[in-house]
Amino acid sequence: MKDARRPIAVFDSGVGGISVLRALVDLMPNENYIYYGDSIHAPYGSKTLEEVRALTEMHVLHLLEAGAKAVVIACNTATSADISILRERYQHIPMIGIEPAVKPAVESGEHPGVLVLATPMTIREMKFRTLLMRYEKDADIYPLPCPGLVEYIERGVLSGPSLEGFLEKLLAPYRYPEIDCVVLGCTHYPFVADAIRRILGPKVAVFEGGPGTARETRRRLQERNLLNPSQERGFVRFENSLDTPEEMRLCRMLLNSKENMK
Ligand code: DGL
Repeated sequence: MKDARRPIAVFDSGVGGISVLRALVDLMPNENYIYYGDSIHAPYGSKTLEEVRALTEMHVLHLLEAGAKAVVIACNTATSADISILRERYQHIPMIGIEPAVKPAVESGEHPGVLVLATPMTIREMKFRTLLMRYEKDADIYPLPCPGLVEYIERGVLSGPSLEGFLEKLLAPYRYPEIDCVVLGCTHYPFVADAIRRILGPKVAVFEGGPGTARETRRRLQERNLLNPSQERGFVRFENSLDTPEEMRLCRMLLNSKENMK
């Protein structure tokens, strides 16, 4: 029983995984959470595979030493680079990864046009290639790497002319009816979902991986009898490699912001 009261660790290259943390807290408010963001080294999406693996493994080790009962890799990039290595290494700990929500998007309509926004690494890696191969006969899938977008969210810029200008340019070739849905395949992007919606128009449905990852985390904890039996609201502790009061404020603000999120 003591084990089940230990926190769930949530890891991301920066503040993006807070979109997954939000979904976890919504689904399991009685759990305790430690969130670690590596904002000093963000973005991970344009680093080498070796760099992303080394950073991810270092931070996961720290979270396990802090007593985590499970680890959620709330980063599509780190998941594609490292999840199989982590699962192999820590077989006794539930390791939950995230992948772009292509499946629900493809299943949302009859052969829809699906735009997938993600980091360059996520789109390059095998995990996404496999996902594409599985679904490309049922939809027109357009993978779009978005270098530069994560930096806005890391700076706390979630709206305004500079962000919208960047998105306008990036999304210019993609509009309804060719595009029916957009998959936010990086955990930072839900924080700018409103701006993306405004540009693509109200007919384009938006999909993100956070809620599915939260449900998968609950299943995996249940399987191992690790759900916290407490009826009280748990705690959320933030840690960040960029350990400044501004960064901590940004983390709290993102966790509590209702706007921009589904
Ligand atoms: N939030 C991350 C993801 O889901 C990575 C962003 C980055 O550091 O490039 O892919």
